[in-house]
Amino acid sequence: MRKVGVAILGLGVVGGGTYKVLTEHREFYKSTQKVDISVECVLEPRKERLLELGIDENIICSSIAEVCSNPDVEIVVEVMGGVEPAKEYVLAALRNGKSVVTSNKELYCKYGYELEETAKKHNCGIFYEATCVGGVPVIRTLLDNLQGNEISSLMGIINGTTNYILTKMTSDGMSYDDALAEAQALGYAEKNPEADVEGFDAVYKLSILSSLAFHTKIPYEKIYREGIKDVCPIDIQYGRQLGYVMKLLAIAKNTSSGVEVRVHPTFISGSHPLAAVGDNFNAVYITGDSIGDTMLYGLGAGEFPTASAVVGDIIYCATHDNYNYSPFSNTQVAGAVRISDNFRSSYYIRVEAEDRSGVLSKIASAFSRQSISVARVVQDDVSKGSVPMILVTHPTNENSVRKAVEEINESSLGSRVVSIIRVAG
Ligand code: HSE
Repeated sequence: MRKVGVAILGLGVVGGGTYKVLTEHREFYKSTQKVDISVECVLEPRKERLLELGIDENIICSSIAEVCSNPDVEIVVEVMGGVEPAKEYVLAALRNGKSVVTSNKELYCKYGYELEETAKKHNCGIFYEATCVGGVPVIRTLLDNLQGNEISSLMGIINGTTNYILTKMTSDGMSYDDALAEAQALGYAEKNPEADVEGFDAVYKLSILSSLAFHTKIPYEKIYREGIKDVCPIDIQYGRQLGYVMKLLAIAKNTSSGVEVRVHPTFISGSHPLAAVGDNFNAVYITGDSIGDTMLYGLGAGEFPTASAVVGDIIYCATHDNYNYSPFSNTQVAGAVRISDNFRSSYYIRVEAEDRSGVLSKIASAFSRQSISVARVVQDDVSKGSVPMILVTHPTNENSVRKAVEEINESSLGSRVVSIIRVAG
């Protein structure tokens, strides 16, 4: 039977889960995969964590050089997170001819090209299923199963923390702060939640997923980003009355005027499959010319869901020699991909308007001047001098909306646009 030795760099939540899954399923993989996968070494400075996991002291390494010089190690699993020293360690492993499995989205998003070129040069593989939406098998689906398609769009709920917070704000009417505190207490949100709630985590993942979907390189810096911190509970409630559910959506569309890539709070129709994805669950909804619409759903984070993706890659690597590299065609050439920020979408627009004659017609005129067609208007029955007025547009362009909003806010109408939420689907 083929024997494959593995090194694990980092024994945090994902590294610990990977160690447990590999050791507990060793006999199972021998019988199902005909391969004996053993953990030959671990690199982890925290002694208490090594003790907690019951790691045999014979497999504890003290440096990446020690890992790289171990002839029994064929696959290096990098589950440390962050760019450095993870990048240095991954490059060292690849240069020593060891294939790498990583869960590090920031590293892969920023340096995937360099890592793949190094892997090719040294005839080894780099696998990154766990970088995006944890246990949901979207990377290999894009790399392999959907290759027969031209993919026109990919929309996803790809951050569990923000989905949990928005679900609680929607279903239980919680405030943002209370929902965040609950997510932190449950271990979904970090103590410092910025990367999740500001949308950076989703941006890294969308860069990887959209690059795969469109066979190009979508630089993460080019992705439009809005987090959920400024979402007003009242908009979630008005949206519900209109039949919408609010989600932090990551959207990538291949359009005739360029690629749209964006992460922002979005209303989707309550009947859309993504609307039913609640709590900390994730889902990716992909549209291809042959397959039509397809959706992958599951847990995007956590010890075992993420270990499921890492171990899947380890087994794939251990049982294949023809390494599969990402089909990005324009690599890192600056500007090689045309990114459009003039998004096409419907818009939910909340205006605080004075309740007097002529105000609605002037607001409508501002939209009309930008050729924006209004699909729905709702005026709430609150009389305190000004009233909330909700307008939902037919699909239009982002730039036109921005111009109309500027006109309304700069006029002496006594009206002000207070919320703009894009409507998808
Ligand atoms: N923090 C992420 C989330 C998981 O909440 O989905 C890791 O990417």
